[in-house]
Amino acid sequence: MGAAQIVARPRTLTGAEVEQLDPYAFFAVLGKRVIHPGGRAATDELIRRADFRADQRVLDVGCGVGTTAIRIARGFGASVTAVDIAPLMLERAATNVDRAGLRERIAVEDGDICALRFADGTFDRVVAEAVTMFVDRPRAAGELVRVCKPGGRVLATEFYWRKPPTPEARQLFLGEVCPGLQFDSLEDWVQLYTAAGLTDVRVETGPFHMMTPAGFLHDEGLMNSMAVMGRAIFGPAYARKKMAWLMPRVARAVPYLGFILVSGTRPVTVAEA
Ligand SMILES: C[S@@+](CC[C@H](N)C(=O)[O-])C[C@H]1O[C@@H](n2cnc3c(N)ncnc32)[C@H](O)[C@@H]1O
Repeated sequence: MGAAQIVARPRTLTGAEVEQLDPYAFFAVLGKRVIHPGGRAATDELIRRADFRADQRVLDVGCGVGTTAIRIARGFGASVTAVDIAPLMLERAATNVDRAGLRERIAVEDGDICALRFADGTFDRVVAEAVTMFVDRPRAAGELVRVCKPGGRVLATEFYWRKPPTPEARQLFLGEVCPGLQFDSLEDWVQLYTAAGLTDVRVETGPFHMMTPAGFLHDEGLMNSMAVMGRAIFGPAYARKKMAWLMPRVARAVPYLGFILVSGTRPVTVAEA
């Protein structure tokens, strides 16, 4: 059974709703477009590794506001299915896809990375930027590999600790800023995706670009950086309060955090060859 295409328009949230948002949803509400640790630089590398083409079916799981799905559909002509679990993200992704004039090429729909509705081997490329770490990781990685065609590629970006964090940095980030997030070392991610069935696993790492001033500017461009910061600083008092709580905590953890891009191939079995 197919899923309904999301067409809703974003509504304005109340102060109490904004208070409850996780940091990523909060940045989406402020208008930020790139919402994963490695920022645009990590997506650039993902795109290089993916070798997207016009005849491919691509799945972007945890698509956020649709930025990467739009890059893939616009840049390569591929057919993209963009899935997220959060209505807030789906509404913004659908709006952005509409504005980009790409409704014919990108389907935006509700879905859970731990229980994807697609049959085994549906997609040529499966992308998940900063999603697996929020959920049951082996199950999510297993789903990403299951829906990928034999011979297709799975590409995921995640957080990892670039150097051992101080107890304070660990507690601030995992205990307060992003409770429930699960990640550890580079080896840990390689093992997870290898156990899920990928071969030829490769990794690329880099700093937590998204939250450095240079990275923010690179990801959003001058105009959108100013618009996002303007909303955070001159917007409603509840948004200012949330930003004032968030930024010092994130800043304490930034030196220890990095992004990892994991990519690999779903092997072709003898029966499939
Ligand atoms: C850090 S944001 C990344 C968004 C987007 N991939 C990007 O890079 O801009 C994590 C995204 O994963 C989504 N998400 C969290 N749990 C999910 C799940 N179980 N299934 C699908 N998406 C999920 C969130 O709603 C959010 O949009």
